[in-house]
Amino acid sequence: MEKLTAVILAAGRGTRMKSDRPKVLHEVCGRPLLAYVIDAARAAGAEDVIVVINREMEDVREVIPAEVVYAYQDEQLGTGHAVLMARPYIKEDTKDVLILCGDTPCLTGDLLSSLVRTHRSEEAAATVLTAELSDPTGYGRIVRGSYGEVERVVEEKDAKPQEKTIREINTGSYCFQVNPLFQALTKVGTDNAQGEYYLTDVLTILREQRERVSAFIAPEPDDTQGINNRVQLAAAEARLRERIRREHMLAGVTIMDPASTFIDAGVSIGHDTVILPFTIITGRTRIGNNCRIGPNVDMKDSTVADGAEVCQAVLVEAEVGPRATVGPFAYLRPGTVLAAEAKAGTFVEIKKSQIGLGSKVPHLSYIGDATIGRGVNIGAGTITCNYDGFRKNQTVIEDEVFIGSNTNLVAPVHIGRGAYTGAGSTISRDVPEESLALERAEEKVIPGWVKKRKMRMACEKQDGDIE
Ligand code: UD1
Ligand code: CA
Repeated sequence: MEKLTAVILAAGRGTRMKSDRPKVLHEVCGRPLLAYVIDAARAAGAEDVIVVINREMEDVREVIPAEVVYAYQDEQLGTGHAVLMARPYIKEDTKDVLILCGDTPCLTGDLLSSLVRTHRSEEAAATVLTAELSDPTGYGRIVRGSYGEVERVVEEKDAKPQEKTIREINTGSYCFQVNPLFQALTKVGTDNAQGEYYLTDVLTILREQRERVSAFIAPEPDDTQGINNRVQLAAAEARLRERIRREHMLAGVTIMDPASTFIDAGVSIGHDTVILPFTIITGRTRIGNNCRIGPNVDMKDSTVADGAEVCQAVLVEAEVGPRATVGPFAYLRPGTVLAAEAKAGTFVEIKKSQIGLGSKVPHLSYIGDATIGRGVNIGAGTITCNYDGFRKNQTVIEDEVFIGSNTNLVAPVHIGRGAYTGAGSTISRDVPEESLALERAEEKVIPGWVKKRKMRMACEKQDGDIE
């Protein structure tokens, strides 16, 4: 197999994003634009990937996988100049170079493979990925000769009125044979409307040298769309979200209302899981088989095991065990771990706590910094008082404990195996196993109190009338 290297141009400022962040680090479906382009290049068979950036973009390195090589372009002198900066990093044995832009996240491996295949089968020196657009404004136009061959690319700013009517555009992705590319690049000048080194001039130079310049027309023009502003960012987001949902559905996930379901690129979902409307699943969330998620679930970086149900809930870095149930109206914060068949019910907030096998927190509770064993029942309205104003303290509840409704567990506190607490108690001392802890003022009952009170009220009213 002949070696393919990808060079991704990403040094441009992206001023139209009106952002402090480099354009290629803006995210769609939870991943930076550049990550999609790298994936597409790899999927098309590129062994080495070189990204051209500028010095202010150091933070790119933190977001993008380590195997990528970076080349710097200190001054943005044009796309031709940017490609030259990558030259020292292209290995000797490279046959062809894919040149891509870092801001085209909808490119697919299939599309780039087709580009490379056409390039190789036609033995072209250069092959341009083109697209036919109803509105070609802003793009370089493909000027074809009388036999339909690609003659050159003319930039919008340099185009004559006649050329501006051409609807076939340069998408900014190309495949080149490495040697003709760099030979021609040394000849590119800056005699154009923008005073830049245009990569597209290489095509004209190659043609003049009687080299073959070819084109591959993208079957889906939207896949080649570059992002220049936030409107285009939103359009790419919509397109990629649709693609992600489609992949999940084809893999056996039921999505009742795709239009109101948002799933990030890094999410995995098992088959026979049903996603109900108004659900957003982000980050590195993993969902198992046969789960029921939604409606109205917002889940980030969480794990949900097979057969679990999550309804009307917010989860952040939480783990839900097999057949466990969450919601409606639950908030599971980082460090929440529900074991198999556990329950976090209605109006329940849990953070940094383990809820053991089959244990239930069914209603109106706050559980923080707690370890709860198996088979525990937490009565409605129970609160772990985990914060004393200075530090967070632990509550430990052993297996088979019954916590009465409206119990305050003042941490640090330990409830032994099988113990009970009486409803309405504030428990601040450890409870030994199998005991009942009750903290409640004794109830006082005054018989006939209501009748006496009514008589007193009536007398006061009469006295008032006389005066
Ligand atoms: C370029 C093409 C145009 C094509 C369009 C597709 C040229 C001369 N024109 O135009 O035919 O229709 O892309 O979107 O190539 N970049 C650098 N360094 C630079 C300049 C640009 O790294 O000095 C990078 C940018 O970050 C971007 C890519 O190259 O990823 C394209 O640059 P851009 O300024 O968007 O090119 P256009 O003028 O849009
Ligand atoms: Ca552009």
